[in-house]
Amino acid sequence: MAPKRLYSLGLALSALASVRAQAPVFGQCGGIGWTGATTCVSGSVCAVQDAYFSQCVPSTVIPTSTAPIVIPTIAPVSGNTLKYVGVNIAGFDFGCNTDGDCNVSGAWPPLTQYYGMNGAGQMQHFTADDGYNIFRLPVGWQFLLNDVVGGTLNAVNLAKYDDLVQTCLDTGASCIIDIHNYARWNGEIIGQGGPTNAQFASTWSQLAAKYADEPKILFGVMNEPHDLPSITLWAQSVQAAVTAIRNAGATSQIILLPGSDFASAQQFVTDGSGPALLNVTNPDGTTTNLIFDVHKYLDVDNSGTNLECVTNNIDAAWAPLVTWLRENGRQALNTETGGGNVASCVEFMCQQIAFQAQNSDVILGYVGWSAGNFGPPSEYVLSEGPTQVGTTWTDTLLVSSCMAPIAGAQSGSTGQ
Ligand SMILES: *[C@@H]1O[C@H](CO)[C@@H](O)[C@H](O)[C@H]1NC(C)=O
Ligand SMILES: *[C@@H]1O[C@H](CO)[C@@H](O)[C@H](O)[C@H]1NC(C)=O
Repeated sequence: MAPKRLYSLGLALSALASVRAQAPVFGQCGGIGWTGATTCVSGSVCAVQDAYFSQCVPSTVIPTSTAPIVIPTIAPVSGNTLKYVGVNIAGFDFGCNTDGDCNVSGAWPPLTQYYGMNGAGQMQHFTADDGYNIFRLPVGWQFLLNDVVGGTLNAVNLAKYDDLVQTCLDTGASCIIDIHNYARWNGEIIGQGGPTNAQFASTWSQLAAKYADEPKILFGVMNEPHDLPSITLWAQSVQAAVTAIRNAGATSQIILLPGSDFASAQQFVTDGSGPALLNVTNPDGTTTNLIFDVHKYLDVDNSGTNLECVTNNIDAAWAPLVTWLRENGRQALNTETGGGNVASCVEFMCQQIAFQAQNSDVILGYVGWSAGNFGPPSEYVLSEGPTQVGTTWTDTLLVSSCMAPIAGAQSGSTGQ
């Protein structure tokens, strides 16, 4: 999850000014491929229906936050050249904060049998109707160990988490195990005054042993490290986890390696994370399936807490990153990105995804934040949770307009 992060953004937003005539009420005013008027006659406003169609509607029925969509200059290819497209299914991480404090009883399984949302139905819908093929399953470290640092996986808690993992695997998708602890346990940094690397490795050794025979499991060693005194020491902690996972028998699955600054895609190279993590290897000395884990939001402070989006991140983050990845022969997966269900986010997210797809040799894909226990957009500004009515699922604007590889998919009747 994206907490408060204040970065200096060197944004250069190119505004597309329209000099065309105004569209009439109920006339088209935008959408991909639309070359006609993009402003509406007085008394009406341009409202996004989906990425391909915006329409002038009487302004009295439109919330003030809805702005005219600017036609993306890069044609969205909807992620269909990317290897992985999916969404986070949050809930087991609830109760965790950026200090790595995780309240064990705050963990809320996103499964109906545990009085959560219908995460199983969500994943079935996303795979069947939207073409998603990966889900990230955040979980608090303390929940897995029932608050005993360095201890054994708690059988009762692990069984609940495994219910979500198996539900994910049952869809045929890939599933990321994400320890959502910000490189910390109760405020103390792993390998830098807090839990030892051996204690961190112990948890991963146990998890890897459990899932060693599941090729579709990805091991996300840590969510959003930040404010690390030493990035070199952090790379050693990551190395300990990688060695433990491989030695536990998970020899070929993808392991996701996160840098500092909340796994920022923008700062991955410049803050030293990338250079330090290049040193991390498999026990055989290779870097096969060691994939860098990067996050990026599109709002004004990269916090993932604001409704509106202000950037497609291409110039500031993705372009420099893909250049560096190619130079170093490496790849990255964007495991958190998202925005509000508004026109600005449709515009910029479509552009970001198009750029990622154009660079799918080094960007493996993206995982949105977030579905799971967050509920619909009326309850959480960055919700990507579909609304279920009976057996019919309806996606959010951002998912249906941009993030779903099956273009135009909006609802389906798959899953329960
Ligand atoms: C932990 O979570 C439970 C359940 O949400 C809550 O009742 C309790 O107050 C929380 N404890 C702390 C210390 O925040
Ligand atoms: C990589 O490892 C080498 C030695 O193994 C070390 O000298 C170097 O400082 C490391 N690089 C980074 C960026 O940590």
